[in-house]
Amino acid sequence: MGKYYITTPLYYVNGIPHIGHSYTCVIADTLARYRRMKGDDVFFLTGTDEHGEKIAAEARKRGMEPQALADEMVLRFIGLWKSLNITYSDFIRTTQQRHVLVVQAFFERLKNAGDIYQGKYSGLYCVPCESFWTQTQLKDGLCPDCGRDLRELEEEGYFFRMSKYQQALLRHYEENPGFIMPVSRRNEVVNFVKEGLKDLCITRKNLAWGIPVPGTPGLSIYVWFDALINYISAPGYLDDESRFQYLWPADVHFVGKDILKFHAVIWPSLLLAAGLPLPGKVCAHGWWLFDSKKMSKSLGNVIDPGFIIQKYSADALRYFLLREMPVGLDGTFSIPAFEKRFNGDLANDLGNLLNRTVSMIEQYFKGIIPESGENSESASKLAQQSQEAAAKVCELMERTEFSLALESVWGFINTANKFIEDVRPWKLKNENPEALKTAMYVLAESLRMTAVLVFPFMPSKAAEMWVQIGMDKKIEDARTADLKWGMLKPGTMVRKGNPLFPRIEKDK
Ligand code: MSP
Repeated sequence: MGKYYITTPLYYVNGIPHIGHSYTCVIADTLARYRRMKGDDVFFLTGTDEHGEKIAAEARKRGMEPQALADEMVLRFIGLWKSLNITYSDFIRTTQQRHVLVVQAFFERLKNAGDIYQGKYSGLYCVPCESFWTQTQLKDGLCPDCGRDLRELEEEGYFFRMSKYQQALLRHYEENPGFIMPVSRRNEVVNFVKEGLKDLCITRKNLAWGIPVPGTPGLSIYVWFDALINYISAPGYLDDESRFQYLWPADVHFVGKDILKFHAVIWPSLLLAAGLPLPGKVCAHGWWLFDSKKMSKSLGNVIDPGFIIQKYSADALRYFLLREMPVGLDGTFSIPAFEKRFNGDLANDLGNLLNRTVSMIEQYFKGIIPESGENSESASKLAQQSQEAAAKVCELMERTEFSLALESVWGFINTANKFIEDVRPWKLKNENPEALKTAMYVLAESLRMTAVLVFPFMPSKAAEMWVQIGMDKKIEDARTADLKWGMLKPGTMVRKGNPLFPRIEKDK
């Protein structure tokens, strides 16, 4: 137990958020909720990246000021996070004064320490990636990351002495094998750094939409240098030192694989230069694809999360994102795959377990959860499996294996469904009333356990389950310590509600 600091990347405000952006926030929120359940003091940071050429160009295209575009788009992000139940602690915008001042002070510090020097940049620039490239790095003359055209740049500016940190970085990767996750991505980064690090140009000339370089008119700070600093400006670097000391270093930075190098190479070098501790880990997730291509605004193949939420519920979307794609791999978003999970895992397995159990307790015991008699073999097995699933989930959450964690929970849910088929409560009613009491108690207890287990993944539906099985405290107050079998009090009154996930019929 202690503080736990989680971040998402800051999203560019050149368009509205799509499923890919939702994914980073959903995995970060799920971990944040789980760590709170463990009793940690969680600081969860997200926000928007509002400077740079990409935003300036989009604003020009729309005939707007960049700040006006940012002000409009930021509302779309905040609105989506609200409807997805994202429980961030702070939302930082890179145009806020609290951030701008820290970026400028950080720049000055590194300059005074000799790690930032003046020079001439000549090379290529990719606007969609906001990245500098050299001729030798290109793939078929195009951006090696996104495959788009590059712009030639030749300008006076400032450089960060990143080359100086090559050995320190390699040592850090070696001494902290968990620093970059998953392992496959770690190797990529290590090999990249082993090939040698170049100094990085960290300014842009004549780009009005950026943080001004202190004391050098006409130059603005490179958007990535600016944006990465959010991870320290938000918790109070150079402003509220005691808060900063408490919160920093971040425990985990969640990022997509496209921006791993910025987080696992550039960011730690900047921190080393400033004499600050490095984050606990950088966890890189894969991409949501559509027709085998990365879903992205510029390709125009995005799925609107708002539509999915409205049609199927926020928790169904959270579930699909977390269950369908393991964190390190790519996944394909398709409506048929989504509806299959919805009808199968959510409506049939989970929804029916709740519905059947609550209906039977109403029918056989006027809604009052009976005291358990002696446990039959199958009841003991269910109890045991609940404990195994809980232990497994806790272990998997530590490794951000959300998909496997859900698989374990569903293993347990399916055993509970099978328990109903095996003991056939409708027969026990006359044949063995004591066994019927046991069956109803263990099923209700299984639902209580399941609600706690799924809460970090599907907070609203877990809360609905919680109410239906008659729990009075708020599910937000549940802790991992509640994952002990037998804590449900007999005599609790169930309250039947609407189906959690009404089945989607094919022809609709
Ligand atoms: N502004 C930078 C990050 C700065 S962090 C100091 C940026 N923004 S972004 O809006 O382009 O992307 C934000 C996050 O969304 C990244 O982690 C990116 O990987 C993720 N996704 C964008 N499209 C995606 C998919 N199609 N699939 C999964 N995630 C992807 O990069």
